[in-house]
Amino acid sequence: MDREITEIIHQTGQIGEGKRYLIITLGCQMNEHDSEVMAALLESIGYSPALAPEDSDLILINTCAVRKKPEDKVASLLGKFNALKQENRDLIIAVAGCMSQQSSAAEYLKERFHHVDLIFGTHALPRLPLLIEEAISTKKMIIDIEEDYTDREGLPVKRLGSLQAWLPVIYGCNNFCSYCIVPHVRGRERSRLPEEIIKEAETMAVEGYKEITLLGQNVNSYGNDLPGKPSFAELLRKLDKVEGLERIRFMTSHPKDLSLDLINAVKEGRKICEHFHLPVQSGSNRILEKMNRRYTREHYLDLVHRIREAIPGVAITSDLIVGFPGETEQDLIDTADLLEKARFDNAFSFIYSPRKNTTASELTDELSRNEKEERLQYLNKIQHRISREINNLLKDQVLEVLVEGYSKTKPEMQTGRTRTNKLVHFKCSEALSGKLIWIKITEARTWNLGGIIN
Ligand code: SAH
Ligand code: SF4
Ligand code: F3S
Repeated sequence: MDREITEIIHQTGQIGEGKRYLIITLGCQMNEHDSEVMAALLESIGYSPALAPEDSDLILINTCAVRKKPEDKVASLLGKFNALKQENRDLIIAVAGCMSQQSSAAEYLKERFHHVDLIFGTHALPRLPLLIEEAISTKKMIIDIEEDYTDREGLPVKRLGSLQAWLPVIYGCNNFCSYCIVPHVRGRERSRLPEEIIKEAETMAVEGYKEITLLGQNVNSYGNDLPGKPSFAELLRKLDKVEGLERIRFMTSHPKDLSLDLINAVKEGRKICEHFHLPVQSGSNRILEKMNRRYTREHYLDLVHRIREAIPGVAITSDLIVGFPGETEQDLIDTADLLEKARFDNAFSFIYSPRKNTTASELTDELSRNEKEERLQYLNKIQHRISREINNLLKDQVLEVLVEGYSKTKPEMQTGRTRTNKLVHFKCSEALSGKLIWIKITEARTWNLGGIIN
C-alpha cells in the first residue's frame, strides 16, 4: 500500500472496531468502483459490513448527479435515515460522490438535512478515514469538496464480484458536452500509468478474476496526458497478454476519437470482447452541435460501418438523449433514422435533465414532460424492435458464454454472458459459475437469450 495511505490509516487507528458500515451506490460503474475503494478504506480502520441500514453504525450514500432522478433519490434516502438517526444518535450518515462534489448541492444537503454528519466529494475519497474520525470526534457536520486531484494509486479495493472486476484506466473528463455534469464533478482527465494498470490486472488474474472491465468516461482519451502518449489500443494489446484473464471489456468510447487502431486491437485481441459502447446521443447534426459532441451523424455512421466491417459479430450499444432544448420533430426523426441505420444491439435513452452550471442549462427547455415521454417511447419502441431482430439472428448459433451463476428471477436457470455482453439463460444440473462454456441459442428475446449447452 502507498505510504501516504498507510499513514492516513495509521493516524486514524481502528476507530471502526466492532462497528458496521453500509454503502449505497447510485450512478455508473465508476461510482461502483469508488464504493469498492471506500469499503476497503472503512475495513482498513476496523469497520465490518452491515446487512441492513438498521444494523449500521455508518451509512454512506455514494451519489450521482447525471440527472435529476438519482439526486432526488438521495433526498428520499436521507429522509428515511433520519428516523434511524433519531433512535441512534451515534449513527454516522455520510453523503459522498458526484452530487456532493457540486458546491450548490453540498450547500443544499447541509441546509436541508441536519442529520448528515459528513459530505465529501469525488476528490476527497483518499481522505475518507480522516474525515470519519473528524465527524466522530467533533460531532459537527464535516464538508470536504475541495478539487485537489490527490493521486489514487495504492488505495485498497474490496471488490464486490468474484468473477468480474472494474479497472479504471482514466479518471475525469475534458469533453464538456453541453448537457453533462460529469466534467464538473470528476475534474480533468488523469490517465493511470500503463504499468500500474497492468500490475492491477495481473493481480486480479492471480486472484481468480476472469473478466475485467476497463473504465473511463472516454477511454479513447487514455494516455493523452502521459509522457510518450501511450494509446488505449496499445494498452489493450498489453492487457490481452495477461495470463489467467479470459475477457477484457472497456467503456465508454467517445465517437469523436475512436481510432482505427482501436478497432484493430479489438479485432486482433484474443481476450478483448467484441463490444463497443459508443454513445451517439442524437442523430441530428444540429443537436449534436448544440451538445458540443464534435462529430456528425455521417462520421458516426461511418465508424459503425468500419467497426462492423472489421469485426464480424460485433455488438454496438449506445446512449441517447431525448428532449434536448430546441429538439424539433425533424431532429427526432433524424435520430429514429440513425437507429434504423446503425442497428444497435441496444440503446439506453434518457430524457434530457437540465444540470446546474452546464452550458445547456442556459437554453430554454420548451418541451413539456409529456412530449418528452412520448418521444422517449417512440425511440424505445424502434430500438426494442431492432434489438429483438438482432437477437433473432443469433438463433442456432453456438456462442461462448462466461457463466455468472444462478438466475435471480428464475432460480432453476443459470445465466452467463456472451462476449458481446448479452445475457443468456440456460439449464444445467451442475453449477458452472466461472466456467466458459459453449451454448447453442434456442430462444431470442429483446433483453436476453435462452439456450442449451452445446
Ligand atoms: N462518458 C459517457 C457517458 C457518461 S453519462 C459518454 O461520453 O458517453 C451516461 C449517459 O447519461 C450519457 O451517455 C448520456 O446519454 C446521459 N446523460 C448525461 N447527461 C445527461 C443529462 N443532463 N440529461 C439526460 N441524460 C444525460
Ligand atoms: Fe459527459 Fe461528454 Fe464527458 Fe461523456 S464525454 S462524461 S457525456 S462530458
Ligand atoms: Fe457516474 Fe453519475 Fe458521477 S454517471 S460519474 S456517478 S454523475
